[in-house]
Amino acid sequence: MLGNFSYCNPTKLYFGDDSLHYLNEELPKYGKNVVLIYGGGSIKKNGIYDEVIKILNENEKNVAEISGVMPNPTVDKLYEGVETARSHHADFLLAVGGGSVCDYAKAVSVSVNCDEDPWEKYYIRFEEPDCETLPVGCVLTMVGTGSEMNAGSVITNPATKQKIGHVFADEKIMPKFAVLNPQYTLTLPHYQMVSGIYDIFNHICEQYFSGEDDNTSDYISEGLMRSVIHASRIANKNPQDYEARSNIMWAATWALNTLVSRGKSTDWMVHMIGQSVGAYTNATHGMTLAAVSLPYYRHILPYGLQKFKRFAVNVWDVDPSGKTDEQTAREGLASMENWMRELGLVMNISELGATEDMLEGIADGTLIMPGGYKVLEHDEIVAVLKESLA
Ligand code: NZQ
Ligand code: ZN
Repeated sequence: MLGNFSYCNPTKLYFGDDSLHYLNEELPKYGKNVVLIYGGGSIKKNGIYDEVIKILNENEKNVAEISGVMPNPTVDKLYEGVETARSHHADFLLAVGGGSVCDYAKAVSVSVNCDEDPWEKYYIRFEEPDCETLPVGCVLTMVGTGSEMNAGSVITNPATKQKIGHVFADEKIMPKFAVLNPQYTLTLPHYQMVSGIYDIFNHICEQYFSGEDDNTSDYISEGLMRSVIHASRIANKNPQDYEARSNIMWAATWALNTLVSRGKSTDWMVHMIGQSVGAYTNATHGMTLAAVSLPYYRHILPYGLQKFKRFAVNVWDVDPSGKTDEQTAREGLASMENWMRELGLVMNISELGATEDMLEGIADGTLIMPGGYKVLEHDEIVAVLKESLA
């Protein structure tokens, strides 16, 4: 462990199949005017909406709603939500949904009292809020992003084909609390479940494939990855297995609540490429990552060989005896590929709607991060994308 850091995560978690009633402890801490934020209607079908409304009414809240927050929430939807929150004089934002809804609530939170265009300020210039922000609480229904316990917020601008995530530095942007009830995730379609599982796994990879020092965070990451692989195999066969689904939920939170990145550099290039693919295709987030991961990791493997070897041995139980480091490392990625295919992930960007003529634009829209084993050139991103087509 070489890095110096500070660590604070103020989000209070309520975990378990009876966790929703803790809203009764949290809601009295905030003002009367609550904006309930949710997606396209899954919470109405599975009954979560009714349960939440009942508790809001019992706490005598004055509730306005922002519904229809789409996967990959757009900047126009953000402007609309800001108007709702302003006209309702919102004191508190309650997000009920997945990463899109939680991210969106944070974006509204920093924009309600902002005099400037929030897209330009937060997503183009990456500035911090210098206005008052609104407190956010989350009831999570889709597992993967870690948005329930971090200060990340990803917004898409379809007009400019940009999908940009801002991880706010100020911990007050993190949700004040998050209700994590694994039961709520049982109605997720298989496609979303496995997409979320790969999102979790890749969050860990993004923070693991960097640095050469001996770092406790990497050992935590290996344990988390092993748990995700184990639980995902059970959940893939039996999505109703509560134990597996609860472990996946817990691993997702730890994968991206800033813990495992402490004291080390991080990569994030799979996310940067995947997000740009998402800006062009509006594809499901985790699937964009799955589709570009193997070409990317095979490309950077020679630059981080020892870590890829360690990944093969410690995460995938590859036996290194009698093999070169490179053979062992490549076997690790082959095991990862088998697992990804077993889950039924989308393994190429063509299936997500990307075409060859988009590749230059997708590469142009990819933010290049400096923390991984190789700082990519534009042409290397195009090459990774070409490999990802089939
Ligand atoms: O909109 P509804 O009808 O609710 O349906 C949603 C949506 O279609 C559905 N769903 C959610 N919970 C359900 C359910 N369906 C049935 N039963 C349930 N219990 O699932 C679909 C996907 O939901 P979404 O919130 O879009 O998924 P996810 O949690 O993967 O969030 C994706 C967004 O988060 C961003 C992504 O870029 C993307 O915009 N990310 C946020 C991060 C962060 N804050 O740190 C990091 C991530 O890397 C990621 O970039
Ligand atoms: Zn992600």
